[in-house]
Amino acid sequence: MSAVTQQLMETDDLSIRTDLIPIFIMGKKYDVPSTLTIQKALEYAGYQLIRGCGCRGGICGACATVYRLPGSAKINVGLACQTVVLPNMYLTMIPFFPANRAVYDLDELEPDAQTILKYYPELAKCMGCNTCTKSCPMEIPVMEYISAALRGDIEKAAEISMSCVMCGICAARCPAELGQYNIGIMCRRITGKHIKPRADHVWEMIDRINSGRYETGLNELINSDVQKLRRLYVERQTEPHTGHEEWTPDNNSNL
Ligand code: SF4
Ligand code: SF4
Ligand code: FES
Repeated sequence: MSAVTQQLMETDDLSIRTDLIPIFIMGKKYDVPSTLTIQKALEYAGYQLIRGCGCRGGICGACATVYRLPGSAKINVGLACQTVVLPNMYLTMIPFFPANRAVYDLDELEPDAQTILKYYPELAKCMGCNTCTKSCPMEIPVMEYISAALRGDIEKAAEISMSCVMCGICAARCPAELGQYNIGIMCRRITGKHIKPRADHVWEMIDRINSGRYETGLNELINSDVQKLRRLYVERQTEPHTGHEEWTPDNNSNL
């Protein structure tokens, strides 16, 4: 039994246990509270999530899930940590989708359409069905960034695909068998490396790291016990919500 299930079993607050609904996880029926996300319902049902679970906040894309609802042949998709359970939903997770992922040396890539097509020739098979856009849980116009990549507008493809969480749902639904998210990240890498101006402040920070400036502080943390780490965490100075843009902590030796 998972810790979450144990906690729910022991709680005195019956309000969270009275509204149970049936769902089917990989074909097996469970009664779960109707207010839970799919991810929490899995844990309520006793699953311990080792794969298919990361940030729990809609950022990492690890928890792609497909489900059907009664009376509909449609396959629905969503992130398990963001989608609330529905009565009689049949679900299973697809924590990894095996899409084509090219290997390349970023330094040597030219920022043009031929480069993308060389590594992802299936790009030319896109038939403009827009299924990818309709299935994206991040509401990204996926077909638009695929079209931009195809016509060589790599910067545009990078911009449109920026909030992709690499969940793989678009690829799972694409009739042309594209791995859209891998094409998107290639466009973002090429844009960062070859199109956008160099971000000098990032390189200044890398130089500071390489100079060993933070070694002492990091070693202190590595060698701290749990109690000390807790105390440092609780006592840390945080940026005020209404802080000025130029705000820095009182101790700025680690900046
Ligand atoms: S689902 Fe595939 S074929 Fe359809 S628009 Fe998207 S990339 Fe093109
Ligand atoms: S573009 Fe594809 S991989 Fe990226 S978030 Fe949308 S569905 Fe997931
Ligand atoms: S667990 Fe990270 S997006 Fe769901």
